[in-house]
Amino acid sequence: MDAEREREFDRVVAAEQRVEPRDWMPDGYRKTLIRQIAQHAHSEIIGMQPEANWISRAPSLRRKAILLAKVQDEAGHGLYLYAATETLGADREDLTTRLVQGRQKYSSIFNYPTLTFADVGVIGWLVDGAAICNQVPLCRTSYGPYARAMIRVCKEESFHQRQGYELLMTMMRGTEAQRRMVQDAVDRWWWPSLMMFGPPDDASSNTERSMAWRIKRHTNDELRQKFVDMTVPQAEALGVTLPDPELRWNPERGHHDFGQIDWDEFWRVVGGDGPCNRQRVDHRRAAHENGAWVREAAAAYAAKQARQEGAA
Ligand code: ACO
Repeated sequence: MDAEREREFDRVVAAEQRVEPRDWMPDGYRKTLIRQIAQHAHSEIIGMQPEANWISRAPSLRRKAILLAKVQDEAGHGLYLYAATETLGADREDLTTRLVQGRQKYSSIFNYPTLTFADVGVIGWLVDGAAICNQVPLCRTSYGPYARAMIRVCKEESFHQRQGYELLMTMMRGTEAQRRMVQDAVDRWWWPSLMMFGPPDDASSNTERSMAWRIKRHTNDELRQKFVDMTVPQAEALGVTLPDPELRWNPERGHHDFGQIDWDEFWRVVGGDGPCNRQRVDHRRAAHENGAWVREAAAAYAAKQARQEGAA
């Protein structure tokens, strides 16, 4: 029976159709999806912190309104993604517990500090730019609810990327000090942005399986290369220098060559020892604990409604 179901599952995946929540799926497929989508959801939620740091200090009402909307969008992305894990049988409370206990990962990028307002622009341009590069192909991922969530997420991410680029353009047209702030932020965020795509393909434990299941549609290195190729002309238009002396166009490959990524730093940050890991997780844990009364009140209200509907 299982062999027959597995054949049907393989057929659906090979035919580029979507696997839906009630369909039979191999245990490994379900586990891999819960792992990846939960990490993705945690990244969206933890990712609110570095930028939220600047909401109260945004330089104008317009910039504050844009930043507020953007940070709020990230909360929405987290919600879509947690909801997608629930369609696979995961429990959101359990996932949050794993995050705050350091038992589940989130993107390395959000463990770096936001030192100036230029960081808000650079996060929009580079970090959200990298996120789009990674997530547009996920609109074609084999699991239906994840693919559909990604369509909306990507639309919103492209607004985030544009607001970042527009902010940087404005700063680059400003004073010498503003241009220096932008360059300094680019210098600090460039390499961590390249690390977002994950370890090199030969050290990526999940890629082969995830590609076969069409959860991932490209390898980590393919997407990283695409991001570099896409970003170089944008940096030129902006007038900033990407901090990599080895970055140059290679006409034979038809791609840009780039320097060696510091993978020791990447694994240190993923392992919990980055500049802000403690702060990010502690803040998330405190927010979760402080929000307990809201969850209790919402549950009590829902129970009261259900009782009243039952009595009617
Ligand atoms: N930060 C933290 N951990 C990472 C990162 C990263 N940038 N990249 C890879 N890892 C972890 C993986 O989760 C995996 O750990 P695990 O096996 O314990 O779960 C390990 O390193 C090995 O990596 P891979 O085998 O390459 O992992 P995977 O196949 O899951 O690929 C990737 C990683 C590319 C991030 C994939 O999970 C993905 O595309 N996820 C969806 C997008 C996403 O999560 N984006 C988050 C940041 S964008 C944003 O929030 C705005």
